[in-house]
Amino acid sequence: MSARAHPRHGTVMALVHEIIARHHAEPGNLLQILREVQAVLTHIPEEAVRAVATGLWIPLTQVKGVIDFYTFLYDAPRGEYDLLLSDCVIDEFRGGRALAEALCRRLDVALGATRADGRVSVAPTSCTGLCDQGPALLVNGYAMPGLSQERIDSMAPLIEGRVPLSAWPPAWFHLDEGLQRAGRLLSTALPSGLALRKAIELGGNVILDALRRSGLRGLGGAGYSLARKWQASAAACAGERSVVCNADEGEPGTFKDRLLLRRYGDLVFEGMTLCARVIGARQGFLYLRGEYLCLLNDLESLLERRRQAGLLGNDILGTPGFDFDIAIHVGAGAYICGEESALLESLEGKRGVPRKRPPYPVTHGYRQHPTVVNNVESFAHAAQIAVYGPEWFRQCGTLDSPGTKLLSVSGDCARPGIYEYPFGTMVAEVLSDCGAGAPQAVQIAGAAGHCVPPSEFNRRLAFEDLPTGGAFMVFGGERDLMAVVRNFTHFFVHESCGFCVPCRVGTSLIKDLIEKVYRGNGSELDLEEIRRLAHLVQRTSHCGLGHTAPNVVLDTLEKFPEVWRDRLRVTAFEPAFDLDGALAAARKLTGRDDREAHL
Ligand SMILES: Cc1cc2nc3c(=O)[nH]c(=O)nc-3n(C[C@H](O)[C@H](O)[C@H](O)COP(=O)(O)O)c2cc1C
Ligand code: SF4
Repeated sequence: MSARAHPRHGTVMALVHEIIARHHAEPGNLLQILREVQAVLTHIPEEAVRAVATGLWIPLTQVKGVIDFYTFLYDAPRGEYDLLLSDCVIDEFRGGRALAEALCRRLDVALGATRADGRVSVAPTSCTGLCDQGPALLVNGYAMPGLSQERIDSMAPLIEGRVPLSAWPPAWFHLDEGLQRAGRLLSTALPSGLALRKAIELGGNVILDALRRSGLRGLGGAGYSLARKWQASAAACAGERSVVCNADEGEPGTFKDRLLLRRYGDLVFEGMTLCARVIGARQGFLYLRGEYLCLLNDLESLLERRRQAGLLGNDILGTPGFDFDIAIHVGAGAYICGEESALLESLEGKRGVPRKRPPYPVTHGYRQHPTVVNNVESFAHAAQIAVYGPEWFRQCGTLDSPGTKLLSVSGDCARPGIYEYPFGTMVAEVLSDCGAGAPQAVQIAGAAGHCVPPSEFNRRLAFEDLPTGGAFMVFGGERDLMAVVRNFTHFFVHESCGFCVPCRVGTSLIKDLIEKVYRGNGSELDLEEIRRLAHLVQRTSHCGLGHTAPNVVLDTLEKFPEVWRDRLRVTAFEPAFDLDGALAAARKLTGRDDREAHL
């Protein structure tokens, strides 16, 4: 870690050429190349954009389009110290906004701007995956939890004195593991290579059958059967295949993959390699969200150790033809890249725009080859099932949702962190374990999930009742739920990839109407319009982001109507836009101010 250096003009080309050469001039590595250029230059200047386009033999517009798409890529200079503060609602409720203002005041820079001397920039960013230890920020891409006024006071002189990050107190960057409750997955040890030995010994079909009998479902949210997905890829036409681990974990309030990657990375890589053996893949990718850059070095070292141990590379465990390796691709701040087809686009070095489906990745995935995309947690479970068997796995959970689930618990509770429960556990039990008292609501499955009132705390966390990718956000009685709705709605406007009109325009219109209601200018008519738009966006959007973005609006309108009604200070319709006021300048210009010149 260091404060970034600014190479002189003449060295930009040399830098770009060196980075491109290291990436074998492979256009699919565009995003990684741009990230590396920026890590040195703080942004990607026009000169570098041109050099990258020429070096990779791709159109200039493609390079510019990619820079434009990803939040963490910049075409204008950023500060030597680039501070991105999480604007997740959990951090907001912990005083994140006031701290952001204090930080800006202390450093004399406006939020969203770079200081004139180029020393520092400060801007908001979406959830950084540290809701259990926020307010959090990224400093030159590296996660820093626990922001406080004292930290700001200590940090400011280091920035003004240009002290490199490597000389900042390491404790500031220390992340707690955050493990509060371990269940079957986290407490059952699995020696490296054991699942692979089983697969080699028993063959792919036996593993597929074990997965099928286990009933394991994808744990990134959608709950699709792993056995069916792997089987479909294995059965797809001959040729190259790929395995992709989705570690994008961008859903606000979700941070359970952070623990798996930090402490159980070997199990995750074992699961990926197992999948490769079953479907016949030779290449694998871990798509790591940019916010988890701090995990990168350890994960790379772990991969190297697995190579040394013969668990990756050619002839794995001495088995001729069992060739497989894993590369880590780092994202650049785009929530939509968690959607599997957008992720594949991103892996190919493009803008992360979701593809049309069908065809699905299992037959037409990475570079149109059959590809299995699974969540981090899903791969970890698959490795354990290969060794301990489907019956062992089914001892926990429900008939439709066997096994356990990791939850990322955050918000108004005494013990935030990561909890592992059997599927079918009641919301109330989690609330009691984490010391939440009697909250007014729990948001299950993040911003895209559902807002659950106390009358439903006896519901169960399972695919057949309340499915969740892992987020469990607790909102105490004193919280303004309207602020939650507002925060999530802004999040979706920001994260919409802009490809389809219903989502791009619809989320924006909903946001504007919510602002109107929030300010106290809304009427029943506005609520009706919000409801109508929310249904429209849900029904007509191209991908899962648009399908789920209006959930929080519709849930709160139905289950917490008083939250909205309390904001309605007017019963008659009030336009959001003051048309008569806007015509004042025209009246002045034309010298008219009679009755007819007013609306
Ligand atoms: C907007 C959006 C974001 C998503 N983000 C993630 C994510 O961060 N991690 C993840 O595993 N799945 C995410 N998904 C789901 C993936 O598309 C895909 O279903 C999942 O990676 C499959 O893995 P699984 O079957 O093991 O759950 C997201 C979906 C959508 C629509
Ligand atoms: S629904 Fe939203 S995120 Fe999905 S393709 Fe359309 S604009 Fe992009």
